[in-house]
Formats: sequence, structure tokens, C-alpha cells
Amino acid sequence: LRASSHASMIKCVHFGNYQIDTWYAAPYPEEYSRNRNLYLCEFCLKYMNSEFVQWRHRLKCPHKNPPGDEIYREGTISIFEVDGRKQPAYCQNLCLLAKLFLGSKTLYYDVDQFLFYVMAEYNETGCHFVGYFSKEKRSTSSNNVSCILTLPIHQRKGYGHLLIDFSYLLTRTEGRLGSPEKPLSDLGLVSYRNYWKLTLCYLLRDIHGGTSVTAMCDETGMTPDDVISALENLHALIRDPITKTYAFRIDREMMQSIIDKWESKGYVKLNPRALVWVPFV
Ligand code: ACO
Ligand code: ZN
Repeated sequence: LRASSHASMIKCVHFGNYQIDTWYAAPYPEEYSRNRNLYLCEFCLKYMNSEFVQWRHRLKCPHKNPPGDEIYREGTISIFEVDGRKQPAYCQNLCLLAKLFLGSKTLYYDVDQFLFYVMAEYNETGCHFVGYFSKEKRSTSSNNVSCILTLPIHQRKGYGHLLIDFSYLLTRTEGRLGSPEKPLSDLGLVSYRNYWKLTLCYLLRDIHGGTSVTAMCDETGMTPDDVISALENLHALIRDPITKTYAFRIDREMMQSIIDKWESKGYVKLNPRALVWVPFV
């Protein structure tokens, strides 16, 4: 599907009580995309043309949280698993919303083959959308994330990291290894590099005795390529020029200082025990 040239005219999306400047065009139907402003229901993600319609919708929309099964809850954070086949309208609306912040092409209508993991934050007014990632139901590849997004109003608060961490928790629960679908956006790449680096810092800090790339993959759910790139990032992989073999150099103090710096930010941490989930079959 081709984004119409009018699509670039949506400059601002009114989401709940927020107004969010858009980054890219999205293929909303023309009667919506020709406007400068788009109005969304923050719960069912229905898109509307005017503040008045949005206000009227708000009075009658019965939803106060994302659809699907709540498979994770810890503190005020919940994650819902939404099946694209069972909730096509919601998932199409979600893909359109995401496209406003994603440069590369994403799917919009063929949502059947995907599961959507929607993260929301609870308060007295409802369970509010923060971000999500999509995942192919039957991935023959090792992709464990198709598209990932944190709404710009919630970015740089650790939620992207939490979503990525959650995607690997699912992958480990499936007994598999996974990696995000390529190409990654610039923001995707910095976020994943940061996640991979931290994950290996935690792992290597606590390792005593021997290890291997294979063992690190099994522990983390990361693919060998991603483990190796993270090790290189940490200067933890050294190649003996004579024997041409590799060795790990584990600088525990450096790993600990990277961890301390990250933890000092006070971001919400994933609690793997709060997952209630069986893999899709
Ligand atoms: N600039 C520099 N570093 C960043 C940035 C940034 N804009 N965003 C994330 N990072 C790095 C930082 O190290 C950051 O830690 P810090 O903020 O304490 O310095 C760390 O990643 C973790 O950041 P989070 O706050 O957890 O990430 P966020 O919630 O902002 O979400 C995401 C990251 C999902 C990539 C977000 O930027 C986004 O939605 N972007 C638009 C859509 C997109 O590009 N998605 C990825 C496409 S690729 C794919 O889908 C497979
Ligand atoms: Zn609604």
C-alpha cells in the first residue's frame, strides 16, 4: 500500500490529553490524512477528524485499557497480548499510529499473522498506552520483534528497554534465540546496542569460570551475531594474533560501572516472574 501524498499533512496527533508532533506520513484514509490534525481515542485507537467527534467518542467508548490478554503486570505497568486476527481494527489502528513515527514501511492491513504486545501504564483514569512491539506468530526466521515503538511523549524513560527486555523474555520462554527484524532505525539501533551491552554486562559480571558465545546466547535469548557485536562493543573479545583464536576479557569493574550508571537512572525493571504466558502454537 502506498502512502498518499496527502498523508504528510497530518502534523499533529491528539492522543488522550496529549498533542504529539508526527515524524512521518502514514496511510490513513484520505479524508483523515488531508487534515493537519488527527484525533485518536487513546484506548481503542480509533481515529477521528475533529475534537468534537473525539469528545463525543470519549463519552461512549467503553474501553479503558488495551484489548487482548494481560500477560504481564508489575506495579503500574501491564503488557497485553493482542492477536491481530482477533482484534484487526485495533491492530490496524496501532500500525497506522506507529507509522507516524517509523520511517520504514510497516504493515497496516495484513495484521493476522502478528501478535502485538502493548505496554500500558495504569492510573485512576485507565490503563494508558505507552508503547508496543509486534511479532510474527510463526516466524521461520529468528525475528523476535517486527516493529517496536515508544510514543514520543514517553521516550527516554526506559520503556523501550523494558519492551526489548520483555521480547527476549518471551523468546527465552519459547526456548529460542531471537533478534529484531532488520533494518533497524537509528533509534532502534542505539536502543538495541544499549540493551545488548547492558545484558552482557549483567551476565559477564556474574560469571565465574568458563563461558562461550553459545552459553551467552542460551542465557539471554540473543543470537550469536548480536552477542558478538555486544562483546566487541565492550572490548571484551580479543583475538590472539598468533593462534588466531578468541578469548574473553572480562573487566568486572567496567561492567559494574556501566550497570551502576544505568541503574542510577531509576527506570522500571522487568520482573520475569510477573509473566503469565504460554507460547503461541
Ligand atoms: N538518542 C540517544 N540514545 C538513545 C535514544 C536517543 N533518541 N533513544 C534511546 N537511546 C538509548 C539510550 O542509551 C537510552 O538510555 P538513556 O535514555 O538513559 O540515555 C536507551 O537507549 C534506552 O532508551 P529507552 O528510554 O528505553 O528507549 P525509548 O523508550 O525512548 O524507545 C525506541 C526506543 C522504541 C526505539 C523509540 O525511540 C521509538 O519508538 N522510536 C521511533 C520508532 C522506531 O524507530 N522504532 C525502532 C524501529 S526498528 C524495529 O522496529 C525493529
Ligand atoms: Zn475508543
